[in-house]
Amino acid sequence: MKNGSKLKNEFKKVFRMVVVTVIIVAVFSLLLGYLLINPKFFDNENHSPKGAVETILEKDGDEYVKIENGIHVATGFVDAPGMQETIQNCTNCHSSKLVIQNRMTKERWKTTIKWMQETQNLWDLGKNEDIIIDYLVTNYPPKEKGRRENLTNIEWYQLKD
Ligand code: HEC
Repeated sequence: MKNGSKLKNEFKKVFRMVVVTVIIVAVFSLLLGYLLINPKFFDNENHSPKGAVETILEKDGDEYVKIENGIHVATGFVDAPGMQETIQNCTNCHSSKLVIQNRMTKERWKTTIKWMQETQNLWDLGKNEDIIIDYLVTNYPPKEKGRRENLTNIEWYQLKD
């Protein structure tokens, strides 16, 4: 009987080892499976808020310098000298579209900027003012034929009452 209980003990040992091995394998395959679904689990940057912010900034940074067909993609501004200064000073309060959809003479750009300074808290642009106005009037001047030409040969008719 002594031999028998010894065998039983051996068997118990082996059985325990098998159970432990199965558990370890199970845990590892779960982990592996999870990593396959979510490969970035160990990517530290994704967990620290700082890393996340940096990733966004980098992404924006790429987007922010992209120029396509002479147009700055992020703002829609024409890529020309003075664009940087214009972006830095003219897209803080309103969309660049508000700037782009306007076409003015130098005087009217100046007046618009002055109006914003007097009523909308636009800061003093310093030496950038000339750069920006030059940029604006060069790239967004009044259209030569902004309005249709006057109609000629109109046959007027009398409204009846
Ligand atoms: C401090 C805030 C601020 C900054 C910076 C700013 N603007 Fe404006 N701007 C405004 C506000 C407010 C309006 C009025 C928006 C509206 O009508 O919805 C406006 C309106 C405009 C308009 C439309 C004017 C009109 O008659 O409809 C133009 C064009 C314009 N801004 C150009 C510029 C340019 C060019 C710059 C850079 C030099 C600039 N803005 C920077 C606040 C600002």
